Amino acid sequence: MNKKYCVANWKMNQSLEDCDIFIDKLNSELIHNGVEMIICPSFVHLTQMQKSLNDLQIKLGAQTISEYSNGAYTGETSAEMLNDLNINWTIIGHSERRQLFDETNDDINNKLKVSISKKINPILCIGETLTERKNRKTLEVLKRQIQVACDSIDFSNVEFVIAYEPVWAIGTGEAADLETISETHEQIRSILPELIASSNHISILYGGSVNPGNCKNIINIDNVDGFLIGGASLDPQKFLSIYTQMNEIGVESI
Ligand code: PGA
Repeated sequence: MNKKYCVANWKMNQSLEDCDIFIDKLNSELIHNGVEMIICPSFVHLTQMQKSLNDLQIKLGAQTISEYSNGAYTGETSAEMLNDLNINWTIIGHSERRQLFDETNDDINNKLKVSISKKINPILCIGETLTERKNRKTLEVLKRQIQVACDSIDFSNVEFVIAYEPVWAIGTGEAADLETISETHEQIRSILPELIASSNHISILYGGSVNPGNCKNIINIDNVDGFLIGGASLDPQKFLSIYTQMNEIGVESI
């Protein structure tokens, strides 16, 4: 069984006060189980959050990373800067980065290389648009995203996680249906060996309108190893509910 993850992607949300409230809530209510909890706040809140974690068994991550090591790249944040803060997770290639900031599969390949070189564990996001799904291009698109992004990379020294997030299900309140998730995760699992060496241990998360009401059915699907959660992760109660429900189905045995 692959390792399970419950990942919060806060995007450009939450005030510093919200971050403190969230951590307080986790401190008083989180019962850690075998599921790895990772929270990805904005860059500017990482330091403060890292300081307030104390003994909390959760990890923090960035939402993206620069493809460059250092230099004249105004506004960018490097892998080394994340190392400085002891942050060893980052989301890479989120569909909003691809669509709004023109990140290409080649850029994502460079970002993955930089993160691996600094031992930062990447969560690679992949996903098709509605038009691509309607045109039956889903598998082709996902395969290309993985193939180009992972080209010439050895993942053996990091934890590498893939998040399947159909673009049409993100932030809509309508998760993909169970059959679609099941079929697509199975397809992703089956193409990984030809694209990535020793791919057995790569966990595949689902993302796209996950909430406390639908998470139980989704986590029960074969090849779904956890969640990348946007909207519902902003509310500590909802996020904890999802995390707890992952525990209830017995993943604590990992
Ligand atoms: P959502 O976002 O849960 O709000 O759909 C998921 C994501 O963008 O990672």
